[in-house]
Amino acid sequence: MKKPRKSYGRRFIFPSFFFIISLCILASFNEFRYDNFLQFGLCAFTLQKAPNMSVLENLLSTNSPPNYDIKILVGILTLPDQYQKRHFLRLIYGTQSPSGAKVDVKFVFCNRTKEDQRTLVALEIMRYDDIIILNCPENMNNGKTYTYFSSLPELFNSSSNHQPYDYVMKADDDIYIRLDNLVESLRPLPKEDLYYGFVIPCNSMDPFVHYMSGMAYLVSWDIVEWIRRSDVPRNHRQGPEDKVMGEWLRAGGRGRNRHNAKWSMYNYPDPNSGCSHDFWPDTIAVHLLKNQEKWIKTLGYFNVTQNLKPSKMYHIP
Ligand SMILES: *[C@@H]1O[C@H](CO)[C@@H](O)[C@H](O)[C@H]1NC(C)=O
Ligand SMILES: *[C@@H]1O[C@H](CO)[C@@H](O)[C@H](O)[C@H]1NC(C)=O
Ligand SMILES: *[C@@H]1O[C@H](CO)[C@@H](O)[C@H](O)[C@H]1NC(C)=O
Ligand SMILES: *[C@@H]1O[C@H](CO)[C@@H](O)[C@H](O)[C@H]1NC(C)=O
Repeated sequence: MKKPRKSYGRRFIFPSFFFIISLCILASFNEFRYDNFLQFGLCAFTLQKAPNMSVLENLLSTNSPPNYDIKILVGILTLPDQYQKRHFLRLIYGTQSPSGAKVDVKFVFCNRTKEDQRTLVALEIMRYDDIIILNCPENMNNGKTYTYFSSLPELFNSSSNHQPYDYVMKADDDIYIRLDNLVESLRPLPKEDLYYGFVIPCNSMDPFVHYMSGMAYLVSWDIVEWIRRSDVPRNHRQGPEDKVMGEWLRAGGRGRNRHNAKWSMYNYPDPNSGCSHDFWPDTIAVHLLKNQEKWIKTLGYFNVTQNLKPSKMYHIP
């Protein structure tokens, strides 16, 4: 009996084998990055199983740099010693992946001052690479926000002409931000000269009067660059940081586009602070989560852990 089928199969498999190998190598040369190593591994894995063209197509499409409509830097201002809080917030933001958007969450603080911080924070940086240490002594209303915003153009300076982020947020470490909802609320808004947040005072709905609460506010990248170059912020750094930000923009004639995200952003319902609101589905952020019970209630309301994938590894009803 002849065996034409088998030899035909071999003749087909070997050229395609080399074709795929070269694609894999090309893919990993394209840019020498960690995720490309992963892809190379994936390539090799795919090869072992079968030269499956639809798998290959997937690989090729994931290799091109992802095209994000919106890029946001979220800087959470905190203190070097808040290790537990950072651990918790990494869980909170590491389990969210807003679609079509790049959201980088970084922890921001001033110079480390204690010996143990040098070691512990260095370990965090080695593991997570999500910390920005500003060149300032630790302070709340004494220019930390100025140092944060004005440092960014240099920190994220790159040879390409692309601006690194469309928007930069300053957030407290006691706020829960639902990144998908944040991104969706930004989609219709301008990417220039934007000042976004929860307008103060509590009962005001006019974003052009006063300023956005320090719970979490956001400005477009052009405003970040303006903060770096202008004398207006440089000469006025003292005072409540959120109020001072509003004063810079007014004095500089900036933030002509404004968005009041109230009541999608609000303080935790209890106790009612005036800036509070009941939980509701259309929520971007809940602020003043001052203890674990408030975090748990908030995460519970938004069904954050409801879709845990089933596994025999854990016994959860
Ligand atoms: C190729 O892979 C896709 C999904 O990755 C699968 O649906 C399809 O059945 C595979 N085809 C073959 C011939 O194995
Ligand atoms: C912060 O630390 C750096 C390096 O140790 C030092 O050069 C700088 O003067 C410090 N800045 C402040 C404001 O303490
Ligand atoms: C960014 O880098 C370029 C080239 O090295 C330099 O000319 C420019 O001043 C830098 N910008 C900032 C904000 O640091
Ligand atoms: C959470 O899940 C419950 C039950 O599935 C559902 O009724 C409720 O609308 C969900 N809540 C939110 C905020 O999505």
